[in-house]
Amino acid sequence: MDFGQPKANVSIDPLSRINALREQIRHHEERYYIHNAPEIADEEFDRLLHELERLEAEYPDLVTPDSPTQRVAGRPVEGFETVEHLVPMLSLDNAYNDDELRAFDERVRKGAGAGDRPVAYVAELKIDGLSIALTYEGGRLVRGATRGDGVRGEDVTANVRTIRAIPLALRGGPSARVEVRGEVYLPRASFERMNREREDAGEPLFANPRNAAAGTMRNLVPALVAKRNLNAYTYQLVAEHRGVSSDARPDRLRQGYGESAETSAAADGRAFPSHAETLTAMAAWGLPVERHWKACATIDDVIAFCAEWAEKRAALDFETDGVVVKVDDLALRERLGTTAKFPRWATAFKFPAQQAHTKIKRIDVNVGRTGAVTPYAVLEPVFLAGSTISMATLHNAEDIARKDIRARDTVVIEKAGDVIPRVIAPVLSLRPDDSEPWSMPAACPVCGSTLRRDEEEVVWRCENTSCPARLRRSLEHFASRSAMNIEGLGESLVDQLIEQGLVHDFADLYHLEAAALENLVVAPREPRSDRAVPRKLGKVGRNVVAQIERSKQNDLSRLIYALGIRHVGEKAAATVARHLRTMARVLDASLEELQRVPDVGPVVADSIRKFAEESHNRALIAKLEQAGVNLRSLQPEPAEDVPGPLAGKTFVLTGTLASMTREAAEAAIAARGAKVSSSVSRKTSYVVVGEEAGSKLEKAQKLGVPTLTEDEFKDLIMKAGSWKLEAGS
Ligand code: IVH
Repeated sequence: MDFGQPKANVSIDPLSRINALREQIRHHEERYYIHNAPEIADEEFDRLLHELERLEAEYPDLVTPDSPTQRVAGRPVEGFETVEHLVPMLSLDNAYNDDELRAFDERVRKGAGAGDRPVAYVAELKIDGLSIALTYEGGRLVRGATRGDGVRGEDVTANVRTIRAIPLALRGGPSARVEVRGEVYLPRASFERMNREREDAGEPLFANPRNAAAGTMRNLVPALVAKRNLNAYTYQLVAEHRGVSSDARPDRLRQGYGESAETSAAADGRAFPSHAETLTAMAAWGLPVERHWKACATIDDVIAFCAEWAEKRAALDFETDGVVVKVDDLALRERLGTTAKFPRWATAFKFPAQQAHTKIKRIDVNVGRTGAVTPYAVLEPVFLAGSTISMATLHNAEDIARKDIRARDTVVIEKAGDVIPRVIAPVLSLRPDDSEPWSMPAACPVCGSTLRRDEEEVVWRCENTSCPARLRRSLEHFASRSAMNIEGLGESLVDQLIEQGLVHDFADLYHLEAAALENLVVAPREPRSDRAVPRKLGKVGRNVVAQIERSKQNDLSRLIYALGIRHVGEKAAATVARHLRTMARVLDASLEELQRVPDVGPVVADSIRKFAEESHNRALIAKLEQAGVNLRSLQPEPAEDVPGPLAGKTFVLTGTLASMTREAAEAAIAARGAKVSSSVSRKTSYVVVGEEAGSKLEKAQKLGVPTLTEDEFKDLIMKAGSWKLEAGS
């Protein structure tokens, strides 16, 4: 490609140089991120980008939002707003074998009235990532949204813009508003690198690239997202029907035309008759289209394509879990329509689970938070579906007995949906002569207590509540996001704290000192690379102590959930806290009182009673109280659903409030009958502005929504009710 020679004296015509640079940079982004075939070295690319940055700094008027320098927004976003999709994002029906593919074809041919004539399809690889909807207006990327519940998703535009495969501007594309659908994914190599780095930092690992991509997309710091190497493929074009106002859209959706809107994906008057032509046009506009798609004249061709890729998929640099088969003729798609859940014109062929043979070195057991003991197989490492497997779950003792799985057996293992691998069956012909059936050990491998099993349960348990294995899992749960939300307190740090004798129960966490944590040496548990060397925690340790300190102010509901009382999930913890108000009342409540709490049945009530009756649990709560952990509900009393003085008002909080936690502020608002919302709209009554406020403040100013400083907010709250706002509670 010839972009013209760089001008020697750019000051003569900075605009044409800027335009030439932008075009060149986009070309190389496409070569690198979409076609995997760079034409220039990374340094050369950086040089072009730097030149553009320099010019734009010199001529700020010439900066446009679709310039490649504008991919990363300067500051974190505060949360994701909910947005509605142009047409709902449906999911796909599945086919697991050739017969099911033929049955799909038959349904399509019948619907088409095609008789014996074949229907043409397009077969595409099914990318295992997370679906995304990109909106282009006037050829410019204006929005990126997650699928969400299919009708409404989250606005993740800032993160989407950081993905270099996604063009910020279409090359010669439609000027009408169009939605391009596709999949954001993390290439395998980037996934492995990311997990190595997380391991080194003592952070929890992602189970698979899909989770990693989904987790990354929901990160609030676009600059961090930009570093994660997310990539994307697009496979569908949805355009707004001409002459159909957005008000009329819901009717159209009810008629079930939803996903077939591709028919009118007119690029300024050009309607595409087929999906193959749509894909070709999308690629020409610079959109990332996975190149292995194939036009198939018959279902036999589709079946051959599926068989081919079931074999070849391991060689791809992204995870694929199947093939999406789509009717090519877009007018026929429209005729076929959709069911409530799926389009009738497409199906997803799922690749069979990948299997491998390996040998079980031994069978060990794992002790969970509740003391449940689960067996697992330690395997001779084997490469399967993109990763090396050295462990597989064995569910429970009964399952092992039923399948007759023994130590030193050669076994078939399977990875279905790329989750934790399972042991399917032993290969009996390869079993050693002296092998013996496996049985559950009599004692807990960690603390030596006798293992027991309830009459009606299949699960064996270690009943020693201070068993170190249980403590370890309990601490992990205590610190987890939906419990006390102590960021950074992950598996390996918990291990160290227990091993070094620094923590014996939850309350000990609140006596940790930054100095002790900074000097802790964290060794990667199973080093994956030479880079994974033991290292001091340093700043990470200091941050964890700050997080622990912060968690003292959590609402009581979090603490109740964090304690890990059997059968008490997040929801039960929240209602118990809201209704009983204090930890003291929870501990003293009778079974009847507990059952009066909405949604609390006899099982949960009984479990809470049993917890409260144990003296060491009461001692633990006293210790937590002494350490300054909040034991009161910050939520409004349930009776206060009556209209409050601020009834009907909606508040949005932005930035950090200096004198109170967000939870306390939200509770104060709710107690006065007002609502808290996460996004600013014209309907918002007030935006409360704390320190380092971000995009929500800008939006409030744009929409003319009144803003309140922290002091003004406190004033309003005080005047609107006798409820006392306590600093820091
Ligand atoms: S077409 C009506 N094509 O698979 C749905 N989907 O199980 C049209 N996916 O939600 C989707 N690769 O997130 C389509 N080449 C591909 C795909 C693909 C991955 C995902 C997509 C969808 C899910 C359905």
